[in-house]
Amino acid sequence: MDLQTSPRILQPFSVRDVHLKNRLVLAPMQMYVGKDGFLTDWHVQHLAKYAVGGFGTIFTEGLCVNKRGRNTYGDLGIWSDEFIPSLAHLADTLRSLGATPAAQLLHTGPKACRQRPWEGYGMLAAEQLARGETHWTPLAPSAERKNPGWLAPEKATTDDIQAVIDAFAAAARRCDAAGFDILEVHGAHGYLIHSFYSPLANDMAPPYGGSREGRMRLALEIAQACREHWPAHKPLFYRLSCVDRAEENSGWSLDDSVVLAAELRKCGVDLIDCSSGGIGRFSTAQVMRREPLFQVPYAARIRADNPGLPTMAVGLITQARQAEDILARGQADLVMLAREALFNPHWPLQAAVELGGDDYFERIWPPQYGWWLHRRALSNS
Ligand SMILES: Cc1cc2nc3c(=O)[nH]c(=O)nc-3n(C[C@H](O)[C@H](O)[C@H](O)COP(=O)(O)O)c2cc1C
Repeated sequence: MDLQTSPRILQPFSVRDVHLKNRLVLAPMQMYVGKDGFLTDWHVQHLAKYAVGGFGTIFTEGLCVNKRGRNTYGDLGIWSDEFIPSLAHLADTLRSLGATPAAQLLHTGPKACRQRPWEGYGMLAAEQLARGETHWTPLAPSAERKNPGWLAPEKATTDDIQAVIDAFAAAARRCDAAGFDILEVHGAHGYLIHSFYSPLANDMAPPYGGSREGRMRLALEIAQACREHWPAHKPLFYRLSCVDRAEENSGWSLDDSVVLAAELRKCGVDLIDCSSGGIGRFSTAQVMRREPLFQVPYAARIRADNPGLPTMAVGLITQARQAEDILARGQADLVMLAREALFNPHWPLQAAVELGGDDYFERIWPPQYGWWLHRRALSNS
C-alpha cells in the first residue's frame, strides 16, 4: 500500500520498539462476564472480531490488579500468575490476526462492588446475594461515599496505598509474561487513581492528599512502579480524566492535566489517553453531557503543551472523516473507539473504503471477505 497517499487513519505509528499498523485503537471495554476473574470464550471472540475488523491495536478490558479493585463479580483479574495462560492465549490470538495486543490495568477504588450495568449498577441486591455474591468494602482517599448508590468506602492508609502500588507492579509483570505489547494504566473515570488526584474525591492529608502535588502522587508512583516492571522496549500508556466536568470551574481541570501529563512522562509514560469525568457518578458513558468529539480538545491541548508527548483521542468518534480530521489537524496521534465498534466491528475496514475507495476491499480487507466485496462494488450487484 502506498502509505504516502493512504488515509491518515491507516498510517503506521511507532512508540518505543512497538510498531502499530494503523492509528485505530479498540477502547478497553469491560464485559462483566468473567468467571472468578478468568476470561471466557466470550472475551476471545469479542476481541478477535475487532482484529479481523482492522483495528491496529486492541485493548483488553480493565484487568483488576486486586480483588478489592473489582467493579463487579464479572470483572477480569490479573492479581495472580494463574491468569497468565488465558491472557497469553488472548494476546496470541489478537497478534495472529494482525493486531497489537494491549492490556489495561484497573483498580476501581470508591466505585468497587456493584451490580453489573444491566442489573442496575448499584449496590448488590437480593438477586446478586442469592447467587452467592457478597459485599466487600471499597478503598478510597475519603470515607465519604460520592454517590448514594455506592457502598461507603474505607479511607486508605499508607499501607493500603503501598499494597495497591505493588499490585500494579505485579500486574505489569504478568501482562509482559502474557505477551502484551502495550500496557495502559486506567487513571480515569472516578476509579482509584482519579479519585486521588481529583480535589472532589480526596480529603486525605499529605503526602497523598492536600495540594495538587500530593494528590498526583499515587498516579505518579503507580506509573513509576509499572515502568520498573514493564520492559523498557514496550510502551506505557496512561488514561486520564482530563477534567472532572462536575460543575463549571470546579474539580480537576485541563490545566492540571497538562501538568500531570508532563510528570507522568518523566516517569516513563509514552502516551496520554484523554478521557474525562466519572467522579461521583455512575460512569462517564452514561451521565456526562456529550456531543461528538467532545474530548478531542483535551487530547489536542495536552499534546500541544507537551511537545513530543503523543495523545489518544476517544469519545463519540463515530465517522471515518472525524477520525481522519483529528489526525490531520494534529489533535492526537491515535484514535480510539468503543461503542461505535460494538455497533460495527468492521469500522476500520469500512472507514478505509470510505476514505480510500473500493480498491481498499482488496488492499486491506482479509481476502476471505474483500475479494467478494470488491467484486460486488465493481458490479454494483
Ligand atoms: C461496555 C463498555 C465498557 C467500558 N469499559 C471500560 C474499561 O474497562 N476501561 C476504560 O478505561 N473505559 C471503559 N469504557 C469507556 C470506553 O473505553 C470509552 O472511553 C467510552 O465508551 C467513550 O468512547 P465511545 O464514545 O467511543 O464509546 C467502557 C465503555 C463501554 C461502552
